[in-house]
Amino acid sequence: MSNIGIAMIGCGGIALANHMPGIALCRETKIVALCDSNPEVLGKASRETGITAASTDYLQIVGRDDVHAVIIATPNFVHAPIVLAAVRAGKHVLCEKPIAMSHQESLDMLWAAEEAKVRHMTAFTYRFVPAMRYMAHLTRTGAVGQPYHVRTCRLQDWGTRSVGWRQIEKLAGSGELGDMLSHRIDYAHLLVGDMERIVANTRKFLDKRDGQVSELEDWVTILAEFKNNATGVLESSKVATGRGEGGRSQDYCEINGSEGTLVYYLERPLELQIGKKNGANLQTVTVPLEFQTWPGSPRNPSVGDPLVTFRYDQDVEFIEAIRNQRPCVPSFVDGAKAQSVMDAALLSNLEKRWVEIA
Ligand SMILES: NC(=O)c1ccc[n+]([C@@H]2O[C@H](COP(=O)([O-])OP(=O)(O)OC[C@H]3O[C@@H](n4cnc5c(N)ncnc54)[C@H](O)[C@@H]3O)[C@@H](O)[C@H]2O)c1
Repeated sequence: MSNIGIAMIGCGGIALANHMPGIALCRETKIVALCDSNPEVLGKASRETGITAASTDYLQIVGRDDVHAVIIATPNFVHAPIVLAAVRAGKHVLCEKPIAMSHQESLDMLWAAEEAKVRHMTAFTYRFVPAMRYMAHLTRTGAVGQPYHVRTCRLQDWGTRSVGWRQIEKLAGSGELGDMLSHRIDYAHLLVGDMERIVANTRKFLDKRDGQVSELEDWVTILAEFKNNATGVLESSKVATGRGEGGRSQDYCEINGSEGTLVYYLERPLELQIGKKNGANLQTVTVPLEFQTWPGSPRNPSVGDPLVTFRYDQDVEFIEAIRNQRPCVPSFVDGAKAQSVMDAALLSNLEKRWVEIA
């Protein structure tokens, strides 16, 4: 395949911030069609990009011959129907996280994509942070030995402002769990492997945001036991006052094992802290150049804000997987695994008990 045509479905915040510039980096790849159910958002995206093939109906867009792949960046409740329509039309799919509203729905999406023999990818963007990539590499190659603990902590201050569809259960499925912790569940899978069972707790601190009813949790925590006997503690909050928002607020991940420790902070995407057996202090190391960009990415890692530019590499991965006819990393398998933990977390919170992972 020489030229790859992409349709952007959902032209809101993350489509503009991550996927449009990401696709712009990819050779012989172009966004050829736009879709947003909101005509104003669609019109603005069309004017700004000069792309005139635009519709408020995703069925019209996935059926186009010049569209080979779609990027789905809509609210969570509509990911599954769009993915299913796209794969039935034979299009490759990159879907935002959380990919579905339930584990079963994510499995239906995975099976449909496999059956249609199209590439499928979950936008677990933070796997593409150079420091996370290097951390996963070091863990895989034995730097921490047998993993004992993984710990993640995401703290942001979103105050009392409206978070739109994110505060409505039927549109989002869950609150902080799907919004922020889903990425950190994926960190844990990437670094340690599959979970055996978990106990979780969620809390909604704000009943209203900007005067509108907020139905979903602002805080979530999971205590996990992994199949390999490691333990995990994962926490995420939208109401950590004074912590700020986005890439410069707290996103911490640490793994401790029999041979060493690795510590990651998103705000320092090109650094990792390493602790060695019998060492007295953590040492800070720079992520080696080969880990600063994703394989196949034409990006110069010294150009632009490193807290922003790594996000573009996930679109490069999607396109490279299509060109090379190989599975995407991370795929819907990873999206569905995170979803199984999310379902278990909601059940655990509801029934106040440990839950086995499906
Ligand atoms: N990977 C990441 O780091 C990351 C970051 C932010 C958001 N996200 C995910 O991306 C998705 C979108 O989030 P956002 O912040 O861009 O939201 P947003 O509200 O800014 O944009 C979503 C857009 O989808 C449109 N839309 C709604 N229903 C539609 C439909 N049926 N067909 C076409 N368009 C439709 C809306 O009109 C809106 O313009 C969510 O799943 C979210 O969890 C991921």
